[in-house]
Amino acid sequence: MLLRNIIIVAALVTATSASAQRPSDKHPLIIGHRGASGYLPDHTIEAYELAVAQGADYIEPDFVPSKDGYLFARHEPELGLSTNVAEVFPEKKTKKTFEGKEIEGWFSEDFTHDEMKKLRARQPFPFRDQSHNDKYGIPTLAEVLALRASLSREHKRSIGIIPELKHPDHYRKRLYPLEGWMSQIMEAWALDRAGSPLIVQAFDADSVKEMKDKLPNIPAIHLLEGDADVSDVGLAKIKAYADGIGVPKSLIVPVKNGQAGNPTDLIARAHRIGLTVYPYTLRPEKQFLPASYGGDASKEYCQYARLGADGIFTDTPDLALKAFHESCPMPR
Ligand code: G3P
Ligand code: CA
Repeated sequence: MLLRNIIIVAALVTATSASAQRPSDKHPLIIGHRGASGYLPDHTIEAYELAVAQGADYIEPDFVPSKDGYLFARHEPELGLSTNVAEVFPEKKTKKTFEGKEIEGWFSEDFTHDEMKKLRARQPFPFRDQSHNDKYGIPTLAEVLALRASLSREHKRSIGIIPELKHPDHYRKRLYPLEGWMSQIMEAWALDRAGSPLIVQAFDADSVKEMKDKLPNIPAIHLLEGDADVSDVGLAKIKAYADGIGVPKSLIVPVKNGQAGNPTDLIARAHRIGLTVYPYTLRPEKQFLPASYGGDASKEYCQYARLGADGIFTDTPDLALKAFHESCPMPR
């Protein structure tokens, strides 16, 4: 299958530097999770722009493949929850098995680039602002990289990008080499060099290993589920192929009955062996923020910063920056 994501100007773009490892006196990297997805439909150009305007150091797009070999920014290959696909392509509804579960819906790999471009994004969380639904399109990886470069110029600082490949194991079996597609386009954009403002991430360990193989100069993060082995032995195994871990925040600050408990020593143990740590996902709504913070999201941001998180995935970069300016002052 042809790699469709590369555009010619890419090779002319020079990578700028952004460190993935923060000096300890600075605040954690603010990672605009799916863009400023607390405010706008996620994985849209508009959500990434807003994240950077709000102070994000990195933008975090997830990618799924189209039928004809483009990588599109979506959290799931099933498009029904986050777009208007049911209205635009009702006839394309089908059933597929993902990771052992049968799902009914519309799947990115059944749509061409031109069909994907007919879709508009929707806010998937019902308790968030729905007024921007059906306004914004779905960007490709190339479009997100072009945006990253132009936002870096506009804001006069190097904006980082931390892309995640979704379900790479599922697609590998179907001969969609997502890692190869991504690494080729990163090379074309000169984002494969040491110091590039790029971190790669995936939940699938084989995918992380393959990305590290293809982009050896780029930090690779293994995303862990809540039941992952984070013993010293488990961390040492991860260290053999990854530079860092992305962890559910509850592995760092456990929560019981809405109460945030005593922090674990995970960050300290990971740092001891040279793994960076990125908790996900800090969100201000009561559905996500433990009640013991009293509705004050700044307390949560500051807690993870004080515990030494290297970066935090957050849907509301503005609240993170405000916390790091006002509640627990730390420079960028
Ligand atoms: O990539 C970090 C975090 O985004 C993982 O969770 O499901 O939001 O992609 P998810
Ligand atoms: Ca993600």
